[in-house]
Amino acid sequence: MNQFIGRMLTNRINPVHQTSHAGLWLVLLCALSSGALAQLPTDTSMSQSALHPASSQAQDIELLWWIMFWASVIIFTAVMALLAWGLLSGRRRPSVLSTTASMRFVLVAGVAIPALVLSALVGGSLMLGRSIASTPPPDALQVRVTGWMWWWEIEYLDDNGEVVATTANEMHVPVDRPVAVELASGDVIHSFWVPRLQGKTDMVPGKTNNSWFTATETGEFRGQCAEFCGLQHALMAFVVVAQPEAEFANWLQRQASPANTPTTEAAQHGLEIFEQNCGQCHRIRGTNAIGSLGPDLTHLASRNTLAAATLPNKRGHLAGWISDPQRIKPGNNMPRTLLSPQELNHLLIFLDSLD
Ligand code: CUA
Repeated sequence: MNQFIGRMLTNRINPVHQTSHAGLWLVLLCALSSGALAQLPTDTSMSQSALHPASSQAQDIELLWWIMFWASVIIFTAVMALLAWGLLSGRRRPSVLSTTASMRFVLVAGVAIPALVLSALVGGSLMLGRSIASTPPPDALQVRVTGWMWWWEIEYLDDNGEVVATTANEMHVPVDRPVAVELASGDVIHSFWVPRLQGKTDMVPGKTNNSWFTATETGEFRGQCAEFCGLQHALMAFVVVAQPEAEFANWLQRQASPANTPTTEAAQHGLEIFEQNCGQCHRIRGTNAIGSLGPDLTHLASRNTLAAATLPNKRGHLAGWISDPQRIKPGNNMPRTLLSPQELNHLLIFLDSLD
């Protein structure tokens, strides 16, 4: 670096060297940018890339992104070419343009064209914002999502706005049908963002915001809180599972039903342990656990992840989470649960039966 600065200072005295180095740096910069483009991820499974849209809204956002990208590439290339031309030829001979022509060139290329291009891009962006934030069609599936530090409560509503099923951190939606999402917050400002399905919408305490999307392909799409909301903001993720309408209807019916009744002695013991130790904060419909501070766990075993998409939902991870959640996600509201190995085992057997 010091050598580079030294050389730059020497080059100030020797313009011929300066121009050749400037050209070299330009070439290097262009090579780096094209290299970065080639590195764009191509694996779309669970990616959070807005460049792999899976809904009509996200397709519009992607289109705007590419328009802005290519506009920037063209403008950047043109400006760099002019700069290179100026550096390479400017010091060797006097300007080929008269003073008036130079002035006109600056006004046209430096004021008029940028004003036109920027107006067009802002106009496009506003029009897109209007179209993706429009009112959802009346037949849309109604889902209410509430952001909590640091997890997502997901409630499915019927036509009268009554809650029919509650889950957490995993949202299932039917493919090719509009989904209207009512967004609220239970504590601080969060932001609902599933890059492959829709842009961000803030979740503000005391206010209900709305978003909607129509998934155009089946699959799992990762979502992420997009507004800094405290210590575990980065681990406030969730999964949207888009599936065929019939499959979704089965899933919703299952989620709306109460929990399975324990069929073994160990599971029954696990339920009692749950009611004594966990039931003040968590709810399992159909049992005496009716807490509302943490996620509803009625169908915990049907979910693919734990702790807001922090861990895979495997028995070992669940054991680790119950034993010491503060180690995995420091600052979250769940305290350690002190259980004997046998109690923990029975609790896990019970939770495993909640599909
Ligand atoms: Cu919630 Cu960031």
